Amino acid sequence: MSAPSPVRFLLVGSGMIGGLRARALAEAPGARLAMVADVRRPAAEALAATHGARASDDPAAAVRDPDVDAVLVCTPPHTHRDLAVSALAAGKHVLVEKPMAPRPEDCAVMLDAAASAGRRLAVGFNLRYWPATAEARRRIADGALGEITHVRGYHGHAGGDELKNPWLTDPAVTGGGSLMDNGSHILDLVCHFLGEPVEAKGYADNRVWKFPGCEDNGFVLMRTADGRVATVQATWTEWRGYGWAVEVHGTKGLLRFGYPPMTLTTVIGGRRRTRWFPVFQVLERLRGWQWSLAATLRDELADFAAAVRGTPAPGSPAADGHDGRRAVEIAHAVYRTAGVGSGAPLTVRPGTAT
Ligand SMILES: NC(=O)c1ccc[n+]([C@@H]2O[C@H](COP(=O)([O-])OP(=O)(O)OC[C@H]3O[C@@H](n4cnc5c(N)ncnc54)[C@H](O)[C@@H]3O)[C@@H](O)[C@H]2O)c1
Repeated sequence: MSAPSPVRFLLVGSGMIGGLRARALAEAPGARLAMVADVRRPAAEALAATHGARASDDPAAAVRDPDVDAVLVCTPPHTHRDLAVSALAAGKHVLVEKPMAPRPEDCAVMLDAAASAGRRLAVGFNLRYWPATAEARRRIADGALGEITHVRGYHGHAGGDELKNPWLTDPAVTGGGSLMDNGSHILDLVCHFLGEPVEAKGYADNRVWKFPGCEDNGFVLMRTADGRVATVQATWTEWRGYGWAVEVHGTKGLLRFGYPPMTLTTVIGGRRRTRWFPVFQVLERLRGWQWSLAATLRDELADFAAAVRGTPAPGSPAADGHDGRRAVEIAHAVYRTAGVGSGAPLTVRPGTAT
């Protein structure tokens, strides 16, 4: 029997993450980069030429191209909704970068478009694909922690030069500050381990960088319907530099994983053990952090391509549009409740008991 044809991708947005996604697509089984679109024609042409793909400076036309099966949206967040909706209406499957869109109402429109078109809408939460995350998932599924009681997470970098891209600090583009930007990754990952939260609240402030409407630090408290709680911090003032970690606590012990360096520590029955992922550490040292990031994007895209072909991987950790909306809703719940006592209710994924 011959292998099924690879899923033909249009990549929209040939900036920082678009370049890494193109590299990841070249290595993802079952996927092929067919076309690159960017409003900056030279940028689209340069990236397309590297990968033997076609180039376009007309994204609205490109998403309707008959020789494209799926669209990868790698543009600034305020463009995600309209690009995704047009692509879905044209019958394409869509994977959109985080954050899904600036506001929860944009996400709702995207979810409706996917439901009407009967096409997949996925969100690029690639932290789910780091090897330490996969190992944590396996151990928890095997019952190592007993019942999950609570989860803690943080994600941060030091701001400054990391914020030099002007749209990053424009809330009209991103919907907020650190919680929407790097925070959307950790909000998703914490919920991935906690389960569906029904309420969230928190605080946010911008006393260091002072970009109007963009918090440097966001602190979130959320709870599930059965009373399990998670805390999350997203920060642009992590003076030690880029890093993230999740701690999952259970009735038998705890598990902590994070990066860099990628490690997974368990403390169960009073015994502490740390796994160091030496092959990963060596390859990253030799090839740079972009290699690690591209490897997680490759696995995420291979998973998405398999799902598009109708053969999703068993136990796939893929994030869908409901996951994407949840992260945006939680950030906005913090913006609404900062300084207010009560939590804001969240939209619960259909089919989840409350
Ligand atoms: N998953 C991750 O780890 C990760 C990392 C970085 C960025 N991101 C996300 O990826 C997205 C893009 O970020 P980036 O850092 O690559 O941005 P970037 O500014 O480097 O690149 C954006 C590109 O999109 C193009 N563009 C803008 N509007 C467009 C439109 N309407 N149609 C077509 N092209 C358009 C720009 O010309 C530019 O080439 C954002 O949502 C960001 O949050 C994700």
